[in-house]
Amino acid sequence: MTGGDTEPGALSRRGLLTAVGALATATATGCAGSRAAASRTPAARARPSAVVPFHGRWQAGVTTTQQRHLRFAAFDLATEDPVQLQALLRAWSDLASVLTAGRTFTDADPAKSDSAEADGLSPARLTITFGLGPSLFAPGRLGLEDRRPAALAPLPSFAADALQERRCDGDLGVQICSDDSQVAFHAFHALTNAARGLAEPRWLQSGFLGNGDGASTHRNLLGFKDGTRNLDAAKAGGQLWAQAGDGAPWMAGGTYLVARRIRTVLDVWDATSVSGQEAAIGRRKRTGAPLGGHAEHDTPDLAAVGAGGHVIPGDAHIRLAAPESNGGAQILRRGYNFDDGIDHTTAQVDAGLFFICFQRDPRTQFTRIQRRLGTDDALSQHLIHTGSALFACPPGTRRGYVGETLFDAA
Ligand code: HEM
Repeated sequence: MTGGDTEPGALSRRGLLTAVGALATATATGCAGSRAAASRTPAARARPSAVVPFHGRWQAGVTTTQQRHLRFAAFDLATEDPVQLQALLRAWSDLASVLTAGRTFTDADPAKSDSAEADGLSPARLTITFGLGPSLFAPGRLGLEDRRPAALAPLPSFAADALQERRCDGDLGVQICSDDSQVAFHAFHALTNAARGLAEPRWLQSGFLGNGDGASTHRNLLGFKDGTRNLDAAKAGGQLWAQAGDGAPWMAGGTYLVARRIRTVLDVWDATSVSGQEAAIGRRKRTGAPLGGHAEHDTPDLAAVGAGGHVIPGDAHIRLAAPESNGGAQILRRGYNFDDGIDHTTAQVDAGLFFICFQRDPRTQFTRIQRRLGTDDALSQHLIHTGSALFACPPGTRRGYVGETLFDAA
């Protein structure tokens, strides 16, 4: 399934120059100003199947079938002027529509040309999903406090938290996904250059998934299939997309993204027997079937009782995370595995799951589920939450820019 629902947006040269010119006007720096001289050349490198439309009712990258590679970046805004924020969002959307369609920029000045590392590469289903952090709406900052959605309340602390400030929060969040890692990096690089003088990267997280057959569920670094029982947007869109009546009409058709960098303590996990691992998750490791079931997509029988008690143990991850245990709450999970080298304080690899989920209201969805997991989950003794962020992802745009509804509401 793709996130956008219109044809790839072909940005006119005039539209592009207008947008980039607006950014140049809004910023005083020469580097961003150099974009005013930019022109683009259709590079004709994209096969239709390699393009996920940027424009559409919803932002792409939410219900889009997961690509293999992730770059998730948080940025801090360097201006207190809402007009400059608007110009940045417009320029970012214009750039995203160009990059996701497989085109690239060529500057008139070769010394300031596109960084070029994606030249000749297919966009490989590149999607760029934009989000706005709670800090943008801080009272007295940009004058946006009246438009802050209640659902964008900062996340509370949780039992498994060992958060590192350098991996948390941000004024703006950008989820970049592609089947080509270099294309994903290039998009981050280009967005960073386009923002120079207005916003600076705060943190950047890479992620990956195995190169499966496209139909099988991916495995996380604990070796288990991850994503089997997930929110189905076609059936439960009411739990995914914000509605006009939710209190922030500009977010209608948008969604809220929670990101958690969760390190998995692999040496302890590896020393746990497979049956112990399966009890902690509540599923078979090889097939992904729920305990007591036969096939991966069998519905977990949470009521089933065997000789030793519940077949799916009381502290199993899937029991505590299930909608049946959380008043029906579901989230759309879209995480990526990561490995970030060796942590020399422990001599262990710093690897795990960069958990991403989308929902209509984190207060009653992610937070509710994580509270349930944080205290009782058998898996939690193997996890350390080192990063956390929350972003409001506005609705998609058919011709304009992502975030326009926030300013239209002014
Ligand atoms: C490193 C951390 C985590 C790992 C390794 C992990 C792993 C898994 C696995 C293997 C499954 C079973 C397969 C599936 O249905 O997708 C699962 C299910 C699930 N997980 Fe996690 N998970 C992690 C963190 C979280 C967090 C932080 C949340 C939310 C707060 C969460 C929510 C869920 C939900 C809602 C399900 C589906 C439960 C059901 O309805 O059966 N997980 N997870």
